[in-house]
Amino acid sequence: MLRLALVLATVPMFSAALNAQTIRYLEDSHIWVLATTHSSYALGIGPGGLLEHVYWGSPVTRAGDFSPIPAHRDISSFDPSEMLDAEEYPGWGGPRYYEPALKITRADGDRDLVLHYVSQHIDGNDLDIRLKDIRDDIEVTLHYHVYPDTGIIRRSSTILNHTPQIVTLESAQSAVWNLPQGTGYRLSYLSGRWAAETQLNREPIHEGEKVIESREGHTSHNFNPWFAIDDGSASEEHGRVWFGAIAWSGNWRITVEQTPYRQVRVTGGLNNFDFSYPLKPGEAFETPEFYGGFSDHGWGEASRLLHHLELTDIQPHGAKARVRPVLYNSWEATEFNVNEAGQTALAEKAAKLGVELFVMDDGWFGKRNNDHAGLGDWTVNPQKFPNGLAPLIHTVNRLGMDFGLWVEPEMVNPDSDLYRAHPDWVMNFPGRPRSELRNQLVLNLARDDVKQYVFGFLDKLATEYNIRYFKWDMNRTFSEPGWPEMPPAEQQELWVKYVRNLYDIIDRLRAKHPNLDIESCSGGGGRIDLGILKRVDEVWTSDNTEAFDRLRIQEGFSEVYAPKFMSAWVTDVPNMNGRSTPLQYRFLVAMQGALGIGANLNKWTEADSDLATHMIALYKRIRTTVQYGSLYRLLSPRTSDVTANEYVSHDGREGVVFLFRHSQEYQTPAPTVYLEGLEEDAVYRIEPEYGKLSDNGETFSGAYLMHHGIDAILRDDYDSMAVLLHRE
Ligand code: GLA
Repeated sequence: MLRLALVLATVPMFSAALNAQTIRYLEDSHIWVLATTHSSYALGIGPGGLLEHVYWGSPVTRAGDFSPIPAHRDISSFDPSEMLDAEEYPGWGGPRYYEPALKITRADGDRDLVLHYVSQHIDGNDLDIRLKDIRDDIEVTLHYHVYPDTGIIRRSSTILNHTPQIVTLESAQSAVWNLPQGTGYRLSYLSGRWAAETQLNREPIHEGEKVIESREGHTSHNFNPWFAIDDGSASEEHGRVWFGAIAWSGNWRITVEQTPYRQVRVTGGLNNFDFSYPLKPGEAFETPEFYGGFSDHGWGEASRLLHHLELTDIQPHGAKARVRPVLYNSWEATEFNVNEAGQTALAEKAAKLGVELFVMDDGWFGKRNNDHAGLGDWTVNPQKFPNGLAPLIHTVNRLGMDFGLWVEPEMVNPDSDLYRAHPDWVMNFPGRPRSELRNQLVLNLARDDVKQYVFGFLDKLATEYNIRYFKWDMNRTFSEPGWPEMPPAEQQELWVKYVRNLYDIIDRLRAKHPNLDIESCSGGGGRIDLGILKRVDEVWTSDNTEAFDRLRIQEGFSEVYAPKFMSAWVTDVPNMNGRSTPLQYRFLVAMQGALGIGANLNKWTEADSDLATHMIALYKRIRTTVQYGSLYRLLSPRTSDVTANEYVSHDGREGVVFLFRHSQEYQTPAPTVYLEGLEEDAVYRIEPEYGKLSDNGETFSGAYLMHHGIDAILRDDYDSMAVLLHRE
């Protein structure tokens, strides 16, 4: 079994006082300390019973350091004390004007909600704190789970209506994260659009509110549910960074507020836009989970902590999950024009290169000859596959590869038998237009009959055929999100129930077919988040497979998500933007994640195939290091004309550095690249691949590689190379 460990060398060891338990309640000060070797998080009961934040940062090891939370005084009649309290989960009520964690309306119109501490429960690494409104039986249980390896805390809340009347939730957030009081903070976040996802932004936090969100029904290409905040001076390997990510594949929202009182608070969870969720007497509501962590070694370590968590605790099968196979996908080669002979020819070529998983993309079902028809009709097209899929799958298996299939379960073309039979199955407002995007409408997965249909056809496919992998696509945003069959007050539940049903279908499918792998795709990277990562084995990073563009997309992706999940294909050029990069460069870019080939192999020359065969063999040697190792972003494509990324295996014995020159200007040499994460005194044997270093030596100390650095000979546009490291 693969065992994972972070390089924790620089982390101080924990001393006696708080070491015994991860979570401890200090009775004298009414404070809980959630402590790991990596960070500490403290919260407590303030005067009057408010639950308040106390500390989040590097490990603090002495219990006596924490004293009771002091009372705040009103500064003026415009600046009430409530604005100075750092509440862990503020209701909207009393004189509070910042972003609330919970906002409600009772059936009788009363909207005031003030939450006070009631009780606690500690169980190993879990802490539950129960809050209750000061008058009514409206309860909130805050859940904290601590991951001792990383110090990351998973937070969520359960809202319970114990009153005799309906309580409608108007904003139900997962958590509020408070930072140390101050100004001058800087926010990192990911924005983008289709084919230009996960672009990293860094900007100062000023007074006011910054919102990143999705209103599109799925996670979205436009923003990713992640933030990182540093004190303005962090770098990749230095400085304090607080970070968090929401596990939700629907409408989400993160607000970052700087108040006039030097408070910075991050509030996040379900988007409150068009949100309304009535809770009947006795009903409870669970929010999505919001993970948060702290690093005092810069953005690089913040990413590595998240990657570690994903690889051990988030991905299906956890640390026992298999390495990602090298896949071939037919989409860019054949588009909708798939048939048995064509796919067989591609499969034969792919197998020779060393491909392990052959995926047939769109076009195999119904009347799917283009994107105008067929979505929803999940029966094999008899013209393209007169004998069904079995012969192709048999050939693929005979060639030594697993078989994977593209599906887009949540969608329907109006020109389909499914839509003709069930026009009411799509989300819609009666009598209003149904906006088509890519000629398709969104099935209302919140409906139970739709959910059964989707599970049913996927289960049938996975049962009838030897399918090892579904590429689960989702190719448009929501619009007209109506659910006319429900009472008006409950129609907006669609936003939440859709996602819950999506998760439920995948969970049931995986439980019934334990060997099935799933890729999450949404027109590229429109559904990448920790919620879907609990259920899928990889994600399609972007429809943009152009290698130079990919460097920045992949950089942003790596801020949050481990390279193992980052599907990356080598495709033909020119692609997407007219640029042509060498095949070697395209391979090395894609080898930084889960390698796939999406090119038209029928057009490849013998030299292309030879290079690909060598590259795939090389990838298989390094992929455990790439997929499970620690990633160090050495030079960024945003700020340097050379990009460099280093991966170090979990046991520190192997490493690989990828280097890319973007363009040559004025015959300028490449900059020195300083490696990271090595042992100073260890000796490493260097194995340059597809290029040369200016140093001729074969072995170097870790100290030399990290402090003197390496000088790669990268002279021309799109020069590239890899350097393998082997600890002696
Ligand atoms: C989306 C996906 C592509 C491909 C097409 C098929 O755009 O992102 O990879 O599967 O759909 O229609």
